[in-house]
Amino acid sequence: MEQDQITPGYARLLDAYPEYSSTAVLDELRSREYSRLDRLDEVYLDYTGAGLYSERQVREHHALLEDHLFGNPHSHNPSSQRMTDLVDRVRARILAYFQASPEEYVAIFTQNASGALKLVGESYPFSAESTYLLTFDNHTSVNGIREFARAQGAAIHYVPMHLPEMTLDEGQMEENLAVAPGAGNHLFAYPAQSNFSGVQHSLDWIERAQGQGWDVLLDAAAYVPTNRLDLSVHKPEFVALSFYKMFGYPTGIGCLLAKRAVLGKLKRPWFAGGTITVASVQGDRYFMAEGAAAFEDGTVDFLNIPGIEVGLDHLERTGVDLIHTRCACLTGWLIEELSSLHHANGKPAVRVYGPGARGSRGGTITMNFYDAAGVVVDHHRVEEEAARHRISLRSGCFCNPGGGETALSISKTEIIGCFNQPWVQQTSRFTPDDFRLCVDGKGTGAVRVSFGIASNFQDAARFVEFARQFVE
Ligand SMILES: Cc1ncc(COP(=O)(O)O)c(C=O)c1O
Repeated sequence: MEQDQITPGYARLLDAYPEYSSTAVLDELRSREYSRLDRLDEVYLDYTGAGLYSERQVREHHALLEDHLFGNPHSHNPSSQRMTDLVDRVRARILAYFQASPEEYVAIFTQNASGALKLVGESYPFSAESTYLLTFDNHTSVNGIREFARAQGAAIHYVPMHLPEMTLDEGQMEENLAVAPGAGNHLFAYPAQSNFSGVQHSLDWIERAQGQGWDVLLDAAAYVPTNRLDLSVHKPEFVALSFYKMFGYPTGIGCLLAKRAVLGKLKRPWFAGGTITVASVQGDRYFMAEGAAAFEDGTVDFLNIPGIEVGLDHLERTGVDLIHTRCACLTGWLIEELSSLHHANGKPAVRVYGPGARGSRGGTITMNFYDAAGVVVDHHRVEEEAARHRISLRSGCFCNPGGGETALSISKTEIIGCFNQPWVQQTSRFTPDDFRLCVDGKGTGAVRVSFGIASNFQDAARFVEFARQFVE
């Protein structure tokens, strides 16, 4: 930013977060590769929803497609062989990016992070002796695994969170981890970073759980776009992620990083093209393929897979640590600015959930707006107003039901009371608005903004300007 353009807000940013200056190269990157943001005069604050792709990524990927002849992999003809080699190269590149030894881990292509989570859920050997332990703070798809666990008679336990930081109840966690093991297989699942509050849960829980006999499923989807995950240091059995969250393009591909040592105990509920070596009609038998192939049903998204290598190149060239620094500065500044907004009567206009500006958190900030009487402003209204200001943000519960219930202090009694109402018991359709009315008209949502690779000070400042309109 030019000297004469330094606003008081920007001066406060530099004062509180001087390291922001070291990220100036990201401003150049934005004007070169994300020029559409300023050309279209849009403020993008939904990186936890989806990352943004650079224009160069699209050009490079398209050039690759234009210059080569690619066929369906796994045949010996040249176009197929070329594709097989490229898919294998990308697989190796993904492992290298996460510093995962190929002797220790495999990279399994899935449709998205949810696809990776489902693969674990459907093939993990849950039994009546098993426990599925998960944190309140989890994406819906991690919660969904409980239905696979339940179907096999496994116990299901949740670790709650503390308000206002939305950190885990460590005592409860220790207790839960200590209780289960014995016979059976036990799975513990948690997110490295919350898609609700941005809180970063300690990766040390991985080793602590493993030390007590648990397999660990780390949901890294919201963490890896702005943080380095080093699988040579922390080694969960399973890691789930979506590539569009890391670098925006391509969509439709995620990954399950799984330890080779646990693959043997996973049991697929079916077989498909590509997952077997031999299947017989008359013999009524099939033999599973080895490694990643056993988990990739049918043809992988082979033309898009090279786009992942392009995306990883882009992230590495840019430097994920630099992106992290910038997002941390903008997040800290934004939380401080929002927390300073008060109505004339002294009441706060915004309540931010999760850790404070300098807490253990990533660049996802969730909040609610309150009027001067202390009544919450409907999150739909905030999103609509934001859209009028050309700001892309997200509202609702962001597919994290436990996060929403905790942040909004909706109790188990209230929820059970709602679900036990006759009309709710009889209905098969139930909307978020039905849910809200049914739990006493309490808000069931919040407003979320998130930073990423192309975020700059103006994005954050425009959001603060927007937020000021709610101050009476
Ligand atoms: C923490 C976390 N886990 C899992 C997912 C699911 O990702 P996808 O919708 O790509 O399957 C998301 C998506 O927002 C997420 O933030």
